[in-house]
Amino acid sequence: MAGNRIRNAQLRSKIMTADQAAALIPKGCNVGMSGFTGAGYPKEVPLALADRMNAAHAAGEDFKISVWTGASTAPELDGALAKVDGMELRLPYQSDPTCRKRINAGEMEYLDIHLSHVGQFVWGGYLGKLDVAIIEVVGIREDGSLIPSSSVGNNKTWLDCADKIIIEVNNWQNEALEGMHDVYYGTQLPPKRKPIPMITASDRIGETALRCDPSKIIAIVETHAPDRNSPFTPPDENSRLIASHIIDFFGHEVKRGRLPKELLPLQSGVGNVANAVMEQLQDAPYDNLMAYTEVLQDGMFNLLRSGKMSFASATALSLSPEAAEEFNRDVHLYREKILLRPQEISNHPEVIRRLGLIAMNGLIEADIYGNVNSTHIRGSSIMNGIGGSGDFARNSWLSIFMTPSSAKNGAVSCIVPMVTHVDHTEHDVQVIVTEQGLADLRGLAPRKRARVIIDKCAHPYFKPALNEYFERALKYSHGQHTPHILDEAFTFLPEWQADKAAQDAWKEDSLVQADAWK
Ligand code: COA
Repeated sequence: MAGNRIRNAQLRSKIMTADQAAALIPKGCNVGMSGFTGAGYPKEVPLALADRMNAAHAAGEDFKISVWTGASTAPELDGALAKVDGMELRLPYQSDPTCRKRINAGEMEYLDIHLSHVGQFVWGGYLGKLDVAIIEVVGIREDGSLIPSSSVGNNKTWLDCADKIIIEVNNWQNEALEGMHDVYYGTQLPPKRKPIPMITASDRIGETALRCDPSKIIAIVETHAPDRNSPFTPPDENSRLIASHIIDFFGHEVKRGRLPKELLPLQSGVGNVANAVMEQLQDAPYDNLMAYTEVLQDGMFNLLRSGKMSFASATALSLSPEAAEEFNRDVHLYREKILLRPQEISNHPEVIRRLGLIAMNGLIEADIYGNVNSTHIRGSSIMNGIGGSGDFARNSWLSIFMTPSSAKNGAVSCIVPMVTHVDHTEHDVQVIVTEQGLADLRGLAPRKRARVIIDKCAHPYFKPALNEYFERALKYSHGQHTPHILDEAFTFLPEWQADKAAQDAWKEDSLVQADAWK
């Protein structure tokens, strides 16, 4: 029945349509939206806003806003606003194809911030004033507090900082989500900070609902729509090989007493490869696994369902449509097994360091010394963003990066002499894994890292060229700590790889230059 999830009777007077709510959003303002991957994002108001923008643009008027979210969202939010050219600026992580196109064409600005930093940037005032928050919830309690939806993300920060609030109450989400959230209100700005009181991944440290000043609520819209995450592709041969290298490595570490037999809490990044590793843990000899992660994808959900994993802490469910349906139906089965927290806590460096996580994230390219590019194609076009990978890579006990050894049907090597953009420096990268093998870089100085990375991770097609580059760098580099021939370091770019004559000419040139530097 309409309004029955709004237990605060006074607030029911704020119920209106999405069009009416969208009409309350002024052009040029900063809007904080809920949503983290395709979970818990507002389903109707952004679409209505996009219609308004479209009409304004057709009438020759400018109408753009800046959009702040938890992370990526879905076509009804990022997709819709990007299609009508409605975003001046977008932050943080996004993965929408239209958005990506506009960002890379220079038509909108994108601020790629570590996910754990977004909240403190807003409180610190570096991003300007937050004018409006649009937040999906499962319901509103008698006292006006909000029952969070399938992601928490930055919602606490948006609700605290925004001048005005629009709530979407999504009747599709199961009301039994109530109680599955842990919203911590103890974070402060320096110098008032206190330790975050979490000792194990399953500790509850906060409240089950989001506090909200009812006088700031300007509209409530009722919706009934499922979350929308992309389905995962079934693990291919490369993903299976990457997963088995990682699981063998865990076995080795347990045998040597460097990991406990139930491993350490797992963090698993976004995408198909990360999901495949979780899928394969199903058959691995580890029980009582725990996760302290950002997104809970299908592979992890299956581990929880089968009992191999006893507990998962995350900020969002990032489930395929089938898994989301199943979870939504059976929420009660996961009541004691999952906590969803604000992303400033799920990704908090202090907690990550204390719990000693095993972090596993994807990459676009890694160089022979272990620097990792997770975000850019050819140094200048953004793919998605850094997301939480930096939060986890630097602070985890064990930081693993994984990728197929080549991309674009084998045309591009993912192991290169020098990355064209750096997200994770060699200091934050302990292990690199491809379908070819696993390079354990811990305790290795740069030249040894180069040999191990090329030997274990490079595709056989690219290995001779990488070895040749490294050998010549050993001979001609200006310095011998991290040997490079800078003029040549980026010649692994795709068109370059196709052009043998150009490569030979370039090599000749670089040898002459390197000789001149010696
Ligand atoms: N050169 C050119 N393109 C490359 C490439 C390379 N070296 N490596 C990968 N790509 C392309 C792929 O071809 C694919 O493009 P397509 O979508 O057009 O087919 C795309 O990048 C994604 O690669 P894929 O192999 O499908 O990997 P994935 O789904 O595992 O994603 C990342 C890999 C790096 C893009 C993804 O993990 C990411 O965005 N990471 C950053 C954020 C993060 O780590 N978050 C987790 C923290 S909790």
